[in-house]
Amino acid sequence: MIDLHCHILPGVDDGARSFTEAVAMCRLAADDGCEAMVATPHQRRGEWWNADRGQLAALADQLQDEVGPGFRVLLGGEIHVDSGLLDEIGKLPEGGGVLPLAGSRYLLIEFDSMGTEADAIHLIHELTVTGWRPIVAHPEFIPWLAPDLERVARLVALGALTQVTAMSVTGDFGRRPQSDTWALLDAGLVHFLASDSHNTRRRPPGLRRAYDVVADRWGERTARRLASDNPRAVVENRPLPEAV
Ligand SMILES: [Fe+2]
Repeated sequence: MIDLHCHILPGVDDGARSFTEAVAMCRLAADDGCEAMVATPHQRRGEWWNADRGQLAALADQLQDEVGPGFRVLLGGEIHVDSGLLDEIGKLPEGGGVLPLAGSRYLLIEFDSMGTEADAIHLIHELTVTGWRPIVAHPEFIPWLAPDLERVARLVALGALTQVTAMSVTGDFGRRPQSDTWALLDAGLVHFLASDSHNTRRRPPGLRRAYDVVADRWGERTARRLASDNPRAVVENRPLPEAV
């Protein structure tokens, strides 16, 4: 399995607070069956702007050194959406303060809780026509989005992909995020399972429990696609394999 969304870079957001904690998170993920994590610090969100790509890359390199071989630490960002985002993405790859996932054409984007469908449609359209592949982080926590399956379907039809959170699938965040997540899975509108882990205890890494829930209800093939095949295509910068 490969985890595309986690806050393991120390000291840059509300995730890991130290290298010790970051290494412990990587070990938990490895023990749970993950071979790689893409570190996705918050970007362009409130106090966590994190526009210095060199600084973030140095932290990821240091974490990889401390974790050692056998588990890969890759770098990306969880990019909060605002009206200036398209301009910033337009500066890539040489400039710009946002990080695609593992240097690919995939971008993990976090819609604002006060966003609108019209703005989202504009953003997804502009990104896809310029060759980006936007992945919508945890639609189950975006109040104007997840309860409306048709709205999610419209964004997916425009080229958006979606990532649900492992602890939403398992019900650890309560019934509403779980039921919205399951409805998305029922509708075939989910492309990735990721941990969005922040620490070792309250929001820990690990996809296995959610993988098992998905395998039980939607089949082993779906679980493997969401936790392994699709994330692997992202870090290898390939199109997602066809769902069969
Ligand atoms: Fe996150």
